[in-house]
Amino acid sequence: MHTVDVATPGGHYPIRIAPGRLELLAQTIPSDATTIVLITNPVVQALMGEQVTRVLATTGKRLIPVLLPDGEAYKTLDTLNLIFDAMLGAQLDRRTVIVALGGGVIGDMAGFAAAVYQRGVRFVQVPTTLLAQVDSSVGGKTAVNHPLGKNMIGAFYQPIAVEIDTSVLNTLPDREMSAGLAEVIKYGLILDTEFFEWCEKNVVGLRARDPELLALAIRRSCEFKAYVVSQDERETGMRAILNLGHTFGHAIEAGLGYGDWLHGEAVGCGLVMAADLSAELLGFSQAHVQRVRALVQAIGCPVVGPRLGGVEHWMQLMRGDKKTEAGEINFILMPKIGEALRRTAPADVVAKVILRNTA
Ligand code: NAD
Ligand code: GLY
Repeated sequence: MHTVDVATPGGHYPIRIAPGRLELLAQTIPSDATTIVLITNPVVQALMGEQVTRVLATTGKRLIPVLLPDGEAYKTLDTLNLIFDAMLGAQLDRRTVIVALGGGVIGDMAGFAAAVYQRGVRFVQVPTTLLAQVDSSVGGKTAVNHPLGKNMIGAFYQPIAVEIDTSVLNTLPDREMSAGLAEVIKYGLILDTEFFEWCEKNVVGLRARDPELLALAIRRSCEFKAYVVSQDERETGMRAILNLGHTFGHAIEAGLGYGDWLHGEAVGCGLVMAADLSAELLGFSQAHVQRVRALVQAIGCPVVGPRLGGVEHWMQLMRGDKKTEAGEINFILMPKIGEALRRTAPADVVAKVILRNTA
C-alpha cells in the first residue's frame, strides 16, 4: 500500500492507494461513529455495493444506504435533497459518517452534503473512477452545478480519509479512462516536465490499463494534488493552476448541457486550447502545442471543441467561470511544459484561439 498525506488547515488525512482497499474499509470508520451513510449510484451499487455493505456491516454500526441517480446532469441541489431527506428522516446525529462510493459526481455531492448536514459531519472518499482517484476525491472541493454555472454552489470541506482501491478500475468504460487520463497529464503540464514525458512514453500502456503504470500514475497524481492543496487549500493563489484547461472545459460542459461531453473530455480539449492561448501570449512554442494536442488525442479525448453558437457565446460561458473577477476572465496558461500561471487575456486573442480550435 502507498500512503500520501494531505495537510490543510481544514484537515490532515491520508490517501491510501492499493488494490483491495475496499475489503479494509471498515478500519477507516471512526469508532465513535453512530451511523454510516453509504452514498452511491445504481451503476456502482451493482458493481460493488454488496461487497462494501458487507464490509461496513462488520463495524456493527447502523448503515443507511442512499442511492442517487447516475450522471453529471443529476449533480444538482434537487439530488442533494435526497441525501438530506434520508438523513433527516432517519434522525441522524452529528457523529454520522458519510461514505462517498463512486466517481466525482458522487464524491462532490456527498462531500457537500457532509459539509452542510447539521453544519458538518465526517466523510470518507472512496473514489471508483480514474478521474476521481487522481483528482476529485482529494483536496476538499465539494459542489453541485447550477444551470448558470458548473460547481457554483459548494464548499471547501476535507474528508477524513481517501481510500483508493485501484482494482475497481477494471470495470470502468474506456471513455471514462480517457477522461481520467486528461487530469493525469494536466499535472505534468503544470508541475513536472518529466512526468509529462513519462505520460507521452507510456500512453499506450496506460490506455491498456497496465496495472503498474496505472498505479504509478495514480500515486504521482495524488502526490501532485496533495502538494498543491496542502499549500493553498482555498485557492487564494497556487491552487488555481489545477484549473489548466478548465475555463475552456467548463464552457464546453455548460454550453452543451452537462453530461454530453464527460468532464475529463472537456478538460482534455481545454488543455489544447490553453496551450494554444499560451503560445499566443507567453511564447509557449507551437511545437509544444502540437505535443499537447498529440497526447490529448493519444489518451482518447477530443482535441477540437464545439462551436457553441459562436465566439460571443463562448465568452459569455467563460465569464461564468469562478476565476472571473470584475468581468475579467482569468486563464491558467503555460510559459513552458511543467509550469503554469494565471492571467487575463485580450478578447481578440481568445477569439482567435476559439475559432482555431473549434468546428
Ligand atoms: P462520474 O462520477 O459521472 O462517473 C463516471 C461514470 O462512471 C458514471 O456513470 C459512474 O456511475 C461510473 N462508474 C463509477 N465507477 C465505476 C466503476 N468502477 N466501473 C464502472 N463504472 C463506474 O464522473 P467522474 O469523471 O468520476 O467525475 C466527474 C465529476 O467530478 C464532475 O462533476 C467534475 O466537476 C468533478 N470534479 C471535481 C473535482 C474536485 O476537485 N472536487 C475535480 C475534478 C472533477
Ligand atoms: N480540480 C481543481 C481543484 O481541485 O482545485
